Amino acid sequence: MCGIVGFIGEPIKGKIITGALKKLEYRGYDSWGVAFLSGKKITFFKAVGEINGIPKKIQEIKSGLAIGHTRWATHGKINEVNAHPHVSAGNKLTLVHNGIIENFSELKKELCSHNFCSETDSEVVLHLIEENLSKGMDLLHSVSKSVSVLKGSFSLLVFSSDEPDKLIAVKNESPLLLGISDKGIFAASDQIPLSSFTDKFVFLEDKDIALISKNKFQCFDFDLNKVERKILKVKSDVTSSGKLKYSHFMLKEIMEQPFVLRNALEQEKKIFNEIFLMMKNSSVFFIANGTSFNASLFGKEFFSRISGIFPQVIDASEFPYQVDFLPKNSLIFALSQSGETADVLDSVKKAKKKGFKIVSMVNVFNSSLARASDKVIYLNCGEEIGVASTKAFTSQIALLYLLASSCAGKFDSALTELKKVFLKMQQSIELNKNSIKFLSEKFKSVKDVYFIGRSLNYPLALEAALKLKEISYIHAEAFPAGSLKHGPLALISDGVPVIVVAPKDSVFSDTINNAIEAKSRGAFIVGIGDEENPVFDFFIKIPKVKELLFPLILIPPLQLLAFHTAVFLERNPDKPRNLAKVCTVK
Ligand code: G6P
Repeated sequence: MCGIVGFIGEPIKGKIITGALKKLEYRGYDSWGVAFLSGKKITFFKAVGEINGIPKKIQEIKSGLAIGHTRWATHGKINEVNAHPHVSAGNKLTLVHNGIIENFSELKKELCSHNFCSETDSEVVLHLIEENLSKGMDLLHSVSKSVSVLKGSFSLLVFSSDEPDKLIAVKNESPLLLGISDKGIFAASDQIPLSSFTDKFVFLEDKDIALISKNKFQCFDFDLNKVERKILKVKSDVTSSGKLKYSHFMLKEIMEQPFVLRNALEQEKKIFNEIFLMMKNSSVFFIANGTSFNASLFGKEFFSRISGIFPQVIDASEFPYQVDFLPKNSLIFALSQSGETADVLDSVKKAKKKGFKIVSMVNVFNSSLARASDKVIYLNCGEEIGVASTKAFTSQIALLYLLASSCAGKFDSALTELKKVFLKMQQSIELNKNSIKFLSEKFKSVKDVYFIGRSLNYPLALEAALKLKEISYIHAEAFPAGSLKHGPLALISDGVPVIVVAPKDSVFSDTINNAIEAKSRGAFIVGIGDEENPVFDFFIKIPKVKELLFPLILIPPLQLLAFHTAVFLERNPDKPRNLAKVCTVK
């Protein structure tokens, strides 16, 4: 996690750097900082909390060399000292870091003559570089010598007031790219903060060091052998990067799902056919985390029901412990909105070592996962800023359905079906966008909420519970409706809300029986489906669609429920506590 940004070029105002950093806040937002070369010295500023209340002198400072960092704490408490940039004594050298230095304790012991200020692992890199500089090396050689002894994941931006024409960027297992603009060269954790300055990007590879000056860059490996990195032109985003009329990114991203779905369906049939050929004689394993994990549960259901391929789903954080026991013909199908989740990337690396093929479904163009894959399906759903994933989830479900259908020779008919669904999705949102607030207000005072569903409605219940807990901090759990009686029913007492995911599908009547069992023990039953039932104390109505496509219609009102509950509780749904959108540490 953490977001980093840097710039070298014509002098620009400090607020351009803080503005770019603000756009990376979804990666971490517990503290932040910036450092500028101003005249011959380094000026820096750090603060705890979100990037607000930026002092005027920082906004107006003019500098042609700057770095910034927004933090999601891993090592050391959330305070100004631990915030980046780290700056050497005498203010000559400064550095920002995203990732984890695994061998920092050993290195710190070796650097015992240095004066450490913070509790972070990152500061050790600053001192290592300083140590090498003191031996007479220039900045590039000092950085290269220093990073070659580091273990772990790190993207770094470094500059020194003694070499004011250089910004050095290092990438290893944490994301970093360069953006080439008319004013100079930027570096950042991803494209989002740079898209208003340029559409030309250089995607650094692991173990790359980039030596950047005002108008050129050179890339090297850690031994300073030159490596070629191309400038790619990246097309602009399909959705607006602002909040538009909405109060929060999450709300905007929920509301734009019907439009986004249409865009996601712009796919090349050829890639789908090629992936089918790879999958048909393989043992398929979906790997993913968080919301993408829940989406892959739908992948398993769709493939088993439609295509005769029977995949398994493994949480990417557990995959490394299973990889050695998988069959030789395994194919790994990785799902990730960001394409930068460390658990997924680590799993893919281990799977590749075993010789397994990698297929991925990713949103972010040319992300690390996309580059590590043999074939990629892009979600095309635009920037997703809210930490809680919403529109990426619906795009993943739609495309998994399309792929499973395609594997059964039904690409065209599935595409036609999906194209009709976005109107129903729109109706589902319109029908509920206001009424759901009554329920949210009621949830304001509850401690626990349970979600139940059978068959496809169970993974849907899992995702709805995840949404509610991650942004409202209310304890929310999902169970297969039929398993209530095997334990969870003991949790039900008077007034405890149980949300029953019950569209009129093949499992409807069994689900209703489970709802009745919960109601008999005092539960407050909220039903969501296309047909009302007397057991429901509150009903969320959605339009009718084909059974396998219900998830696309059911999820938006449940996302809205989580959103409004968080807002009623005065919690910021875009930036839930302790979480980050892109988890670049394992
Ligand atoms: C984090 C985010 C979740 C997200 C998960 C996987 O935990 O907070 O919202 O679902 O990472 O992210 P990915 O980018 O791999 O889909």
